[in-house]
Amino acid sequence: MNILITGGAGYIGSHTCIALLGAGHKVIVADNFYNSAIETIDKIQEVTNKKIIIYKNDITNYFELESIFNENPIDGVIHFAGYKAVDESIKRPLDYYYNNVLSTINIAKICTKYNVKKIVFSSSATVYGNNMPPFVEKMKLQPSINPYGETKVMSERILMDMVNANFTFKVSILRYFNPVGAHESGLIGENPNGKPNNLMPYITQVAKGKLEKLRVFGNDYPTIDGTGVRDYIHVMDLAEGHVAALNNIKQGTNIYNLGTGKGTSVLELVNAFEEANNVKIPYEITSRRPGDIAQAYADPSKANKELKWEAKRDLLSMCRDAWRFEKNNKTL
Ligand code: WQD
Repeated sequence: MNILITGGAGYIGSHTCIALLGAGHKVIVADNFYNSAIETIDKIQEVTNKKIIIYKNDITNYFELESIFNENPIDGVIHFAGYKAVDESIKRPLDYYYNNVLSTINIAKICTKYNVKKIVFSSSATVYGNNMPPFVEKMKLQPSINPYGETKVMSERILMDMVNANFTFKVSILRYFNPVGAHESGLIGENPNGKPNNLMPYITQVAKGKLEKLRVFGNDYPTIDGTGVRDYIHVMDLAEGHVAALNNIKQGTNIYNLGTGKGTSVLELVNAFEEANNVKIPYEITSRRPGDIAQAYADPSKANKELKWEAKRDLLSMCRDAWRFEKNNKTL
């Protein structure tokens, strides 16, 4: 199939391009490179030895988006493009609502106009808010404690209402847990602009000596060792989950958790990283980060069953692959 990937030069988007090309699909990427690098497209082509059609454009601009559909036959869309920094969304809510929600409205409008029925949407476990884990798809969503999470709730709703108005659409909403790691080549990976917000890129930059030590945000949570527990999933497992979602997409709106179903604490991840890479990660316990919840992990059984997909790579592989990319990555 010819698949349009919005945000295809980003962290998860670029790994999904590799998985799609490997599965024999043709890939068209639309990216404004706000939080990604055009060199990533070259690296995807190097790893796969396949060509990508690339559009540098902003999909909040309907006419820029439409030019792609005028120039290419599109069989399906995977919509990643969006701002994704939780704390930034609190400081810049209007930018987040404008960018993330309008881009989803444009995707829904253009797919309706061009009769493109298959849409996979990149959502997030953030929508579950403070529910009790393991999170299950049919859980009532809690109001998000940040605008980023709200844009995901709104985008899910926009796509669901588009399907309610036209049931011939096939929409798969994928709720990611905590993607980490990198493609085994070490050529692409998580390369945030500025100081990392997320745990794993922070750890890899401490390991590299770029940052002095890790601050562990609180050790007084009701968890195994008091530190925050999350469901870390290898980004290539996540990428393969998108191929599975496309291959098993069905009429209506279907929501799936893409996680391992296992919770790992901050200190457990630090220990796994040290063991996997034979490095020391200095850290200090600091106060909790506002907005953090104690535990978040998936019940992935619906995706396992209906998408015939499950996460295969373990924590040590996630740590090894993340470290390989960091060591190779000259831009950091
Ligand atoms: C993980 C754990 C922190 C950094 C966020 C978004 C989510 C998704 C993934 C987009 C927590 C602790 C972290 C640090 C730490 N993004 N931590 N020191 O917050 O679970 O999820 O990123 O879709 O939407 O909310 O991920 O990696 O920031 O934190 O102790 O320097 O690590 O407290 O327990 P999070 P994270």
